[in-house]
Amino acid sequence: MKVYIEKDALAVAQKALSLIKNQITKKADSRICFATGSTPLDLYKLLIEDYQKGKIDFSKMVTFNLDEYLGLDLKNEHSYHYFMDHNLFNHINVKRENINFPDVKKYEKEHQNGSYEQVIEKLGGIDFTILGIGENGHIAFNEPGSQEQDITRVVDLTESTINANKRFFASEKDVPRKAVTMGIGTILKSKKIMLLATGPKKAQAIYDTLLKPVSSNCPASFLQNHKDVTIIVDELSAKLIKNKI
Ligand code: GLP
Repeated sequence: MKVYIEKDALAVAQKALSLIKNQITKKADSRICFATGSTPLDLYKLLIEDYQKGKIDFSKMVTFNLDEYLGLDLKNEHSYHYFMDHNLFNHINVKRENINFPDVKKYEKEHQNGSYEQVIEKLGGIDFTILGIGENGHIAFNEPGSQEQDITRVVDLTESTINANKRFFASEKDVPRKAVTMGIGTILKSKKIMLLATGPKKAQAIYDTLLKPVSSNCPASFLQNHKDVTIIVDELSAKLIKNKI
């Protein structure tokens, strides 16, 4: 895994921007998987700015998203559909028909495990995946205990994740308890993966991801088994790995 330690969150976003721009410049019809959460927000702002300056064209890009809550209307301001529209998609020239999410209704009612993988495969697979990381080492909503072969499925969120995500909701009881998420296996099929982390709360998860043996206790550690992963972290989230990598 390639690791970049940047001075702060903005520098992390700038480095991430350069990697994505490189990808889209080389292949305009890149199939890019986007993440939610607060970490990639600076990157999304920079992508919008570059689009407004005419430096990037998203008209051929195909997008996927990693996950979505269950039990929220897709127009609810806490849904990941809403998040992506408001923080990125509404501000760039991505085509609506090129935006893909797991079909929450299908997963909720019929537990159609694997149907998202069929969509991804039909569209040619994912070229580049953007990931954040949870304090407990989760990626997308693959909580500790997730396995390397897992595909898209319905999962229960852990107390740690509900607690971390309650800041976006009026109260903890409003945080959905279930979500549908791409599996680790789905994520590992992406040709390139870029994981971003900022702030001291992510330091232990970054240490476990990079320096501990691969284990389902830290789902992000499965990234060690992928051949093209770039991790971009700020000084604060790198405090336990500094001088050790
Ligand atoms: C959620 C998302 C993850 C994200 C994580 C970290 O659980 N499902 O994809 O990486 O939050 O979020 P943040 O960047 O806000 O710390």
